[in-house]
Amino acid sequence: MMIQTILLLEQDLVKFLDRDNLNLKDSLQLLNPRFLPVFIFRISNAFYRHNLGFIAKLLALKNQIIFGCDIARGARISGGLYLPHPNGIVIGEHVRIGRNCIIHQGVTLGARGEDHEFANPTVGHEVEIGTGAKILGFVRIGDYARVGANAVVLHDVPDYGIAVGIPAKTIGLRPNIT
Ligand SMILES: CC(C)(COP(=O)(O)OP(=O)(O)OC[C@H]1O[C@@H](n2cnc3c(N)ncnc32)[C@H](O)[C@@H]1OP(=O)(O)O)[C@@H](O)C(=O)NCCC(=O)NCCS
Repeated sequence: MMIQTILLLEQDLVKFLDRDNLNLKDSLQLLNPRFLPVFIFRISNAFYRHNLGFIAKLLALKNQIIFGCDIARGARISGGLYLPHPNGIVIGEHVRIGRNCIIHQGVTLGARGEDHEFANPTVGHEVEIGTGAKILGFVRIGDYARVGANAVVLHDVPDYGIAVGIPAKTIGLRPNIT
């Protein structure tokens, strides 16, 4: 389990250094406020998976208080998570996020209503979610999709789809970037 967390963190760090065009030697990048919330989440998630929920909760709380970034300790997020500006991000307990996703500030991923607590979004690989977007309920965001700024997504977005508006509609497809 520890090895898995280290591997995920390594993927997060590689993505972060690459996107910010930084080098580990530039400064203490592990303490960079663009990376620290991801680091704290990974440790919190590791404690959660070891049934040390209380410590996990304390760490998640730390993220909330310091960065205003509320990533539930149990969220299942693959490596390469990049949060350019972590403030105001809310990610629910039952959300799943694939590899190498970029999530901008003010994004919410969670249930659509209290009656549907477990019906949470699944986000594919290599997805970018624009600032202020809300993705609610049992929806799937396809691989390589982009969600526009301030979109409210209530229905699935296909692979490579570009979704904008309230409620969000798919307005086109990204060029194949694989
Ligand atoms: C959705 C997005 C990815 C689309 O980018 P694109 O593929 O280059 O698309 P375009 O800018 O050509 O826009 C296509 C159409 O969608 C509309 N559109 C684009 N973004 C929109 C949005 N967020 N909400 C509503 N409509 C939007 C445009 O007005 C345009 O409509 P038109 O054809 O009727 O003029 C981009 O506009 C976006 O919202 N990116 C988020 C960026 C972000 O969060 N940055 C954070 C910086 S800190």
